[in-house]
Amino acid sequence: MLRLPDFPWDSLAAAKQRASSFSDPALGAAGQGLVDLSVGTPVDPTPPVVRRALAEAADAPGYPLTWGTADLREAVAGWFAARRGVPDVDPAGVLPTIGSKELVAWLPLLMGLGPGDVVAFPRVAYPTYDVGARLAGTTPVAVDALTALGPLTAATTPKLLWLNTPGNPTGQVLGIEHLAKVVSWARRHGVVVASDECYAELDWREREAGSVEPPTTPSILDPRVTGGSHEGLLCVYSLSKQSNLAGYRAAFVAGDPALVGRLLEVRKHAGMMVPWPVQRAVLAALGDADHVVEQKARYAARRSVLRPAVEAFGLRVEHSQAGLYLWATAGEPGRATVERLADRGILVAPGDFYGAAGREHVRIALTATDERVAAAARRLGGPGEA
Ligand SMILES: Cc1ncc(COP(=O)(O)O)c(C=O)c1O
Repeated sequence: MLRLPDFPWDSLAAAKQRASSFSDPALGAAGQGLVDLSVGTPVDPTPPVVRRALAEAADAPGYPLTWGTADLREAVAGWFAARRGVPDVDPAGVLPTIGSKELVAWLPLLMGLGPGDVVAFPRVAYPTYDVGARLAGTTPVAVDALTALGPLTAATTPKLLWLNTPGNPTGQVLGIEHLAKVVSWARRHGVVVASDECYAELDWREREAGSVEPPTTPSILDPRVTGGSHEGLLCVYSLSKQSNLAGYRAAFVAGDPALVGRLLEVRKHAGMMVPWPVQRAVLAALGDADHVVEQKARYAARRSVLRPAVEAFGLRVEHSQAGLYLWATAGEPGRATVERLADRGILVAPGDFYGAAGREHVRIALTATDERVAAAARRLGGPGEA
């Protein structure tokens, strides 16, 4: 019998109900109703340039290419060059996916992994890495360092290692040196590395003058990481967050052309193709950097309101250098923090959703409107200006 983890969100129902009944007339509109910072679903409009491209491609009687059109794959390679410091993505090693969650969930199976194989992922992580390992019947192993894998034998060496940078829920960014070490280790042991980088454009760190860092989070495909070869490496990326496209299911995977070719083969047989209008929308989104700058500014403003308010409430924010969450702790069980915030009408996710190691944390999303973020800040004692 396939054993999947429990779907944890149901356990938040009582806190949600309590938070929804919050009312503080002294705060005016800011004192009314729920502020839901528990899920990371975008709330701002899909950019007009993208909507237009979708509408213009609405006449689509034929099947779309599973591999995506050449111009789409070239646009992805161009985005890596312009935004990620990766000049050498081969368009043959690019494949559009139906959002990135499906790829995360099915990658072990698409790679032909199964019982007896190990799939490793971070100890505090987006739950779908674990789900994907289980769907394929492999052994999921959560580790916070490669040394935690213990002595490596043929049976314990992972076939696939997931990285997530910037991390969800922690917002931790992995540096070039760290990524390079992981890649060199993986090559020594024949491990495929898949790096989920879907928050890379939302990096809050200041660039130093003259910095050679790319403008976004470093990629697993960066030449300083790979030494110029993408063999055994995959980068998973999504437009859901940077382009408000979660409803379109718009993402891609890029890297080793041989590996991507094998995924393509299975996906063709399985009908896992991105709808034609969405492919055209992705092309338009990748061709327009302005809306990403605009969206990043919205989240930066919300973050600058929420973070000091959360700290004023007594939480310590850890990591959170990038991405759409504040990863915070009061040094008490995260569930207790969830309750205390629910008393102020604010719903957040307990850290244990992301692994037992997160049990003293909460994840606070920046994905609410300016008005709701300002309301949260007022309730927490902050100034509340978004
Ligand atoms: C780390 C991470 N990977 C993948 C996804 C899935 O994104 P999508 O399926 O919308 O591309 C999410 C969504 O929140 C995420 O946080």
